[in-house]
Amino acid sequence: QWTTASIVDETVAAIREQIGDRRAICALSGGVDSAVAAALVHRAIGDQLTCVFVDHGLLRSGERAQVERDFVAATGVRLVTIDAVDRFLGALAGVTDPEEKRKIIGREFIRVFEQAARDLQAEAGAAGEQIDFLVQGTLYPDVVESGGGTGAANIKSHHNVGGLPDDLQFELVEPLRALFKDEVRRVGLELGLPETIVHRQPFPGPGLGIRIIGEVTAARLATLRAADSIAREELTAAGLDRDIWQCPVVLLADVRSVGVQGDGRTYGHPVVLRPVSSEDAMTADWTRLPYDVLERISTRITNEVADVNRVTLDVTSKPPGTIEWE
Ligand code: XMP
Repeated sequence: QWTTASIVDETVAAIREQIGDRRAICALSGGVDSAVAAALVHRAIGDQLTCVFVDHGLLRSGERAQVERDFVAATGVRLVTIDAVDRFLGALAGVTDPEEKRKIIGREFIRVFEQAARDLQAEAGAAGEQIDFLVQGTLYPDVVESGGGTGAANIKSHHNVGGLPDDLQFELVEPLRALFKDEVRRVGLELGLPETIVHRQPFPGPGLGIRIIGEVTAARLATLRAADSIAREELTAAGLDRDIWQCPVVLLADVRSVGVQGDGRTYGHPVVLRPVSSEDAMTADWTRLPYDVLERISTRITNEVADVNRVTLDVTSKPPGTIEWE
């Protein structure tokens, strides 16, 4: 009988065995997998672990604080945050093609992480030590899928920390390799991680960058972040978080629509709500959200978010639509 506590104990013992008194680094994304992997490794080796969080400016409202404040408070992990917002926005300037955006974000992420790893390596070297291990939150389904090759992975280029250069050769530590997502969440709760992280819905690595249809700019990110945060607040208040797989909010930044507000004409942008139900994200159905919830989200977004004067609902299943718009 595998209890969550025994999974934690066994995994922590195995990590100690693998790493011994050496050092490890881990990239945190704000998501549940990297957070739980890091928390397990931290429990095993304490401050021999350093976590790196790259803020690419494409996160949702409150997510940086969830990592920097809540995760650190819950675990005591040693965290280095790299503020790379300007760098990512610079690299994305003028880019509208979805695949190009994904490649740029993935490439910049790896470059920033590499530089952070080099800096930490130099710091360890000065103390006569070395970082030998890289922690990754690979789950059992990822292990199976990369062996199986369904082809679905090629529809969009997903990004993760892989393919590091020769001078950064790390041995991998993958404490979640035998676990499914629900077990990872239980382990996270057992380790005392905040609910906001443990039950976070899936969020793509390229973040809000692929939820702005058109060029990504700081102003558009602020608009989307505000709309997204209202949608999430209302879905949570309605108790719907566990019923939906995720609900991307998409800003149609290159589309404008005419509206009326007060006595005046507005000429703003539409956002799209994309609530989906799914088991594994390979297929999905659009979620039949209650009309009153839709109404509240729509009223609040059009009232509270300057620049957005229309809220639309995506009623496409996957296939033929993907969950994200880009
Ligand atoms: P699609 O849009 O392909 O999305 O139907 C399926 C699931 O994957 C998430 N997604 C990503 N996750 N890196 C990620 O870690 C990515 O580049 C990426 N692109 C999409 C998406 O949110 C959905 O849950």
